[in-house]
Amino acid sequence: MSPRMRRIAISVAVTSMSVMLAGCGALNATGSSDDASPSKGDDITVGLLLPEKANTRYEQFDYPIFKTKVESLTNRKGTVEYANAEADAGKQATQMQRMVDQKVDVIVLDAVDSHAIADSVKKAKEAGIPVIAYDRLAEGPIDAYISFDNELVGEVQGRSLLESLREDLSITDKVVMMNGSSTDPNAKQFKAGALSELKGKVTIAKSYDTKDWKPENAEANMTEAINAIGAENIEAVYSANDGMAGGIVKALRAAGVTELPPITGQDAELAAVQRILAGEQYMSVYKSYPEEAESAAEMAVAKVQGRDIQFDALTRDRVDSPTDRDIPAQLVPVVALTRDNVAETVVADNIYEVSDICTPALKSACAELKLK
Ligand code: BGC
Repeated sequence: MSPRMRRIAISVAVTSMSVMLAGCGALNATGSSDDASPSKGDDITVGLLLPEKANTRYEQFDYPIFKTKVESLTNRKGTVEYANAEADAGKQATQMQRMVDQKVDVIVLDAVDSHAIADSVKKAKEAGIPVIAYDRLAEGPIDAYISFDNELVGEVQGRSLLESLREDLSITDKVVMMNGSSTDPNAKQFKAGALSELKGKVTIAKSYDTKDWKPENAEANMTEAINAIGAENIEAVYSANDGMAGGIVKALRAAGVTELPPITGQDAELAAVQRILAGEQYMSVYKSYPEEAESAAEMAVAKVQGRDIQFDALTRDRVDSPTDRDIPAQLVPVVALTRDNVAETVVADNIYEVSDICTPALKSACAELKLK
């Protein structure tokens, strides 16, 4: 096990342990349980606002995992009011206002535009509704934040890309950078993390911020990069996520490329795991959606029920946003996903069944990796 993997494994264990302890109603200094006088019972409504549908994670993992967890934490009495903004910041503001008008008990928000949503966060707070930023750090007076270490995601991607070029790595190697949406603070962190690894080692020949994180926009940007640089001169492509990696592969294929350059990704989307096995994508970043979504559900329910000790145990990190400092946070660790650790990551965590991944076309790759 590499030092990084070991560090990640240890911190995963520690995180789960503290969450488990917190879930047991830990005793406070006076010896009484923090569960003693919750301000609300189980009959609560949690608002969940997610940003888009073009990338599969939100509808496939975040929403269903979050909903199931809220239900189990509230003896099936709590409900989740869910809205997806489909990459439209105006629509998200309307959805959030509707939740404020409905007087939901708490809002968990993954912002389309972290800056533009600040007014809505303020309005929710004025109405007495706590707001927990989910995955993307929304501006305004949020109560807490849960995400991954997003700069580390970029570093892991950048380092993997260099590894993929190993033997003949040279500063003259031309790399195309396909970053995420400029309205998403995570995209900036992924980019900064990746650049901290790539700078001085390769040449960033073209770099794009991809509108709305849409795969088709990444495909169009990639086509432009190919026309400018020449497909045969592109040594590798940094793609901030898997959805965009799919668009990039399409653009390269349309340009007649048969042997694809190494391409990075993130999210462990099923199609990306399959591309990794087929040799069409070099890596992805596996971020444990159960850990993120379940901890967010625990934070939201603890907040509403006034379980302060549990809430504090779930938010031991601190982050600053452009508008607020020392925001209580939980940052979940991440793992680089390559063909060698498909079994230990997405399969071991029951994200996908081997039968989902191993289509007839991937039979020999799966056999070679002993995926059964
Ligand atoms: C998330 C990524 C996702 C991207 C596009 C980011 O904020 O952290 O997991 O791929 O948004 O939705």
